[in-house]
Amino acid sequence: MTTTSNTLYRGDSLQILTGLEAVSFDALITDPPYSSGGLHIGARQRPASEKYPQGGQKLIYSEFEGENRDQRSQGYWMTLWLSECYRLLRDGAPVCLFSDWRQLPLTTDVLQAAGFTWRGVLPWDKTEGVRPQLGRFRNQAEYIVWGGSKGNMPGTRLVPVLPGVIREPIRRADKHHMTGKPTEVMRQVVRICEPGGRILDPFAGSGTTLVAAELEGYAWTGCELTEHYHQVAADRLRALDSQFTSPRRSTVPNPV
Ligand SMILES: C[S@@+](CC[C@H](N)C(=O)[O-])C[C@H]1O[C@@H](n2cnc3c(N)ncnc32)[C@H](O)[C@@H]1O
Repeated sequence: MTTTSNTLYRGDSLQILTGLEAVSFDALITDPPYSSGGLHIGARQRPASEKYPQGGQKLIYSEFEGENRDQRSQGYWMTLWLSECYRLLRDGAPVCLFSDWRQLPLTTDVLQAAGFTWRGVLPWDKTEGVRPQLGRFRNQAEYIVWGGSKGNMPGTRLVPVLPGVIREPIRRADKHHMTGKPTEVMRQVVRICEPGGRILDPFAGSGTTLVAAELEGYAWTGCELTEHYHQVAADRLRALDSQFTSPRRSTVPNPV
């Protein structure tokens, strides 16, 4: 099933994406589970709350799905859903994938394995508020691997010059997910889409991409597997008073 209205699905995005209409989106902007936080499977299979810093306190945020793959299965899985997204995007549509430093090589590989052209890496500088490490470089950035679908991204697109680095701290009041991104970061990222376009985020979490899309005047579709975060995202979007539909389950066979 495909609807052109703003929609937040609850379910496994790989299943949901297969039910969406081909060539119907103008950008893919997403922050998938990184399956990071360690080099070995034992380290990766720890709960996300043990892997990712929580500002000194644990269990402020609910756990979420999809964080426990080893490197080979993470690469395979990402190639699967990115290939589905390739089918869904229009020619020249931009793609932006969040990554940390550990998963950067894998992310640039899978982007290209799925058929997209890799065009760059945009650093998100979280500023000096992040935890310092004595005797080491401060781990202060995450990255947005970006590219375009199906070849060319003509310079005639109606998009202005965009920043080469986004410098923005994490503020507690604007963090709604254990690995939630600041709304301002997502507002800057979604501007890679042509005005009024339709943005896809298959891993919506607390809905920050969708909130940013709404604030910047785009249409949007999101998926989220974890019930708690689906609800958080739905509440945030409702608070913006946007018109959207929010199926509790995916409408494809074998919904989660
Ligand atoms: C890194 S978080 C996204 C956070 C988001 N950018 C925000 O600001 O809140 C990734 C999300 O993907 C969800 N997820 C994991 N596997 C999924 C799947 N197969 N289908 C849909 N969502 C999934 C997780 O539950 C998690 O909330």
